[in-house]
Amino acid sequence: MRFSAIVPVLLSAAALILTFLCIFAGSKPGFMEDYSIVTLNTSRIAQNLLNTTSSESSNPIVSFFDDITNSVQEEINDSLNSLAQDLGLHDFYSAHLLNYCEGFYTPSDLPNATLPRSAISKNVTHCSNRTALFAFNPRATLQRELDDAGHGDLNLTDLAWPEELDDGIRALTAASKATFVLYCVGAALAFVALVAAGVGVFFDGRLSAVVNVVVDSVAFLVLGIASAVVTAVAVKAARIVNEKGEDVGVSAQRGGKFLALTWAATGLLFVAGLVWCGVCVVGGRRRRVSRVKGKGYA
Ligand SMILES: *[C@@H]1O[C@H](CO)[C@@H](O)[C@H](O)[C@H]1NC(C)=O
Ligand SMILES: *[C@@H]1O[C@H](CO)[C@@H](O)[C@H](O)[C@H]1NC(C)=O
Ligand SMILES: *[C@@H]1O[C@H](CO)[C@@H](O)[C@H](O)[C@H]1NC(C)=O
Ligand SMILES: *[C@@H]1O[C@H](CO)[C@@H](O)[C@H](O)[C@H]1NC(C)=O
Ligand SMILES: *[C@@H]1O[C@H](CO)[C@@H](O)[C@H](O)[C@H]1NC(C)=O
Repeated sequence: MRFSAIVPVLLSAAALILTFLCIFAGSKPGFMEDYSIVTLNTSRIAQNLLNTTSSESSNPIVSFFDDITNSVQEEINDSLNSLAQDLGLHDFYSAHLLNYCEGFYTPSDLPNATLPRSAISKNVTHCSNRTALFAFNPRATLQRELDDAGHGDLNLTDLAWPEELDDGIRALTAASKATFVLYCVGAALAFVALVAAGVGVFFDGRLSAVVNVVVDSVAFLVLGIASAVVTAVAVKAARIVNEKGEDVGVSAQRGGKFLALTWAATGLLFVAGLVWCGVCVVGGRRRRVSRVKGKGYA
């Protein structure tokens, strides 16, 4: 028995659990919703359009708001129903690894003097089905919801939805799909690391320690790449949306909690590998010492 090997067992078990949480976070309503990769805030989507266009405009979005409200300005200041909600859209869309979720900010989408931003929470109303190789497509999703809400005559072009935003998000599709594969491989390797560490508890030869160093290193590398790619996607997507979407009242935020989770899993495997390195070195030294003493060491 090698009791020092219990530490890497615990570390790789924790890494495996965190990797699974990364994959399944947000996969159903209410399950780790805060752990999205990136969250799109569309609650004020038509605001600038209403603000800058006169009511006599022929833009169907403006006429739409004209028809349902007494005054467009009143509608802009309405904090109970967001502009998005009136259009049949949702306040936010959060992209996860396997799907996206959508819902409304509660109690209101706009912070004010008595309602700090930290007091605004997300109320998820729906999550899409889990899909392997998922990549969130904001334009298709928003247009589908406009159509479903019976506003087939309205489209995202009327909202001045920027094409550069679509192009930017489309450029991230391949990376988004690759992250899914990387996380699956990473989870499998974390599992192998766990099994190898368990075996290492009972077989205290140097070979098992070396095997563990190799397995942990490969698992660390794959999860590290997955984390790096997903970080790049989250940062890039948020930047594109915030740059290009500003004019249409759309913003985005990268998921800090998700990134913390994925890098924690990566870090745990790194530490597990270090512990096995230590076991190798200490074991080797002990063996040399015992050989010098002529006792032999199993
Ligand atoms: C809308 O217009 C008002 C007055 O013209 C201005 O004060 C406000 O900043 C504008 N809001 C946005 C979001 O552009
Ligand atoms: C802030 O927003 C909340 C929720 O919409 C509302 O009840 C409250 O009256 C607002 N406070 C101010 C000062 O506008
Ligand atoms: C959503 O975006 C709007 C417009 O950019 C902003 O005013 C509002 O504070 C945001 N809401 C949240 C909860 O982030
Ligand atoms: C969340 O949304 C559901 C369904 O739309 C609604 O019944 C519920 O009251 C909402 N919860 C809060 C806290 O607003
Ligand atoms: C989601 O899954 C349900 C049940 O598995 C299925 O009935 C439904 O058609 C699926 N929806 C989509 C959009 O694939």
